[in-house]
Amino acid sequence: MPGFSEQIKGCIFNLDGVMVDTAKYHYTAWRRLANQLGFDFSPQQHEELRGLSRLASLEKILEWGDIYMTEAEKLHWSDVKNNWYVELISNLRPADVLPGVLLFLRQVREAGLKIALSSASRSARQVLRSTQLEAYFDAIIDGYSIRKVKPDPESFLLAAQALGLPPSACLVFEDADLGVQAGVAGGFTVIGIGLPEYLPNAHLVIAGFENLTWNNLLKQLSGAAVI
Ligand code: G6P
Repeated sequence: MPGFSEQIKGCIFNLDGVMVDTAKYHYTAWRRLANQLGFDFSPQQHEELRGLSRLASLEKILEWGDIYMTEAEKLHWSDVKNNWYVELISNLRPADVLPGVLLFLRQVREAGLKIALSSASRSARQVLRSTQLEAYFDAIIDGYSIRKVKPDPESFLLAAQALGLPPSACLVFEDADLGVQAGVAGGFTVIGIGLPEYLPNAHLVIAGFENLTWNNLLKQLSGAAVI
């Protein structure tokens, strides 16, 4: 049986909060919506939306505001929020890619691995284009390809399939606990990005990609007894 590092042939990255800090734009747009409906919510509450679909995010926000909406109204307001969000991310630039991400992607590529994106967002391709990240990916799974929301593993399984790899040959990089759960359920080795207390299900948690090398990551996985 090959060693773990030889077994890994692909990396699957989430986008929002992993490669680009788009969460602040989601927050601005959702907050504008809440304000129009007559209430507000905090950045801490917004953390609870990480990894949730657009509709699930709206439903959670409506709960906070104690507001009832029909399904048609929910669709209308999700569209309104999305238009605001799309306008906000139209200003994204390559400099908005999070620190260390580009260097890490290049190293993964040099190590001969394949790279996929798995994002629940329908704006994922726009974000990749504006930040000039698109060319790094062999496969892109976005909100248009996904039917089942996290913690269902579908989004990662589609990404692995698009790379032609089994889950056991892929690392998943995720910033949301729901996404980590999805990766684990799909049989992937999952690297959480953020603080360990928010990512209890990840095989390994790292703060981000700044100063992270591929070899160093393999060492950390080995130190955490994942490999
Ligand atoms: C990602 C983000 C969520 C967002 C979801 C849908 O998972 O982390 O905050 O709600 O995508 O994104 P969209 O841009 O299609 O509304």
